[in-house]
Amino acid sequence: MSAAAIPGPTTPPMTRREFLYYVWGASMALFLAESGGALVWFALPRFKPGEFGGTFTLDVSAVPPVDADPKDYPEGRFWLVNLGPRAASDPRQPKDYPVQEGVLAIYKICVHLGCLYKWVPTNNRFECPCHGSKYLPSGARVDGPARRNLDVFIMEAVDSGGNVLAKTATGNADNDSKAGAAFQLPAGTAQIRINTGKKVQGAVNTKDGGGR
Ligand code: FES
Repeated sequence: MSAAAIPGPTTPPMTRREFLYYVWGASMALFLAESGGALVWFALPRFKPGEFGGTFTLDVSAVPPVDADPKDYPEGRFWLVNLGPRAASDPRQPKDYPVQEGVLAIYKICVHLGCLYKWVPTNNRFECPCHGSKYLPSGARVDGPARRNLDVFIMEAVDSGGNVLAKTATGNADNDSKAGAAFQLPAGTAQIRINTGKKVQGAVNTKDGGGR
């Protein structure tokens, strides 16, 4: 008489509750992986140094002499100006926006409708070919349909060790005259860094007359 086969242990089928639990776990793992990826993406710098939107590091010798014509940096889309006594005593400067002497990196896009304005040395001012807005080297609007001063990029003065000695003040230029103002380069400045990803919007300025 042969022995009857003994059945081995069997795995019970997955219940509906277990199935839903596994689906939920997989969804959570996917969500966390995507969130982590997004965080890493946002934490990474978006722009390379020397690319518009990123930071431009220039030797201090790149700064134009005091009250000289602005220097054009087309790759960074800014004008570098060094405002001195001539700019500070310019009778065209609107009284509501007194000049602070020092260095500024002015965004070269007209604040009216976004054209590229030009430097016109014979008139010692910027002029926009599109609709005629005019701005002084300080960035102050003096004529035309634009309704505010030019925007400036945040700039840092750093020493040879990379320590920040001075920096453009941020804030709302409409109620803080220091926001976006020029500053004198402190002794020991070796380089300036212009962050073309961060700017201070020019103050509202609607009075005509200074540029005529
Ligand atoms: S875009 Fe410059 S004046 Fe209109």
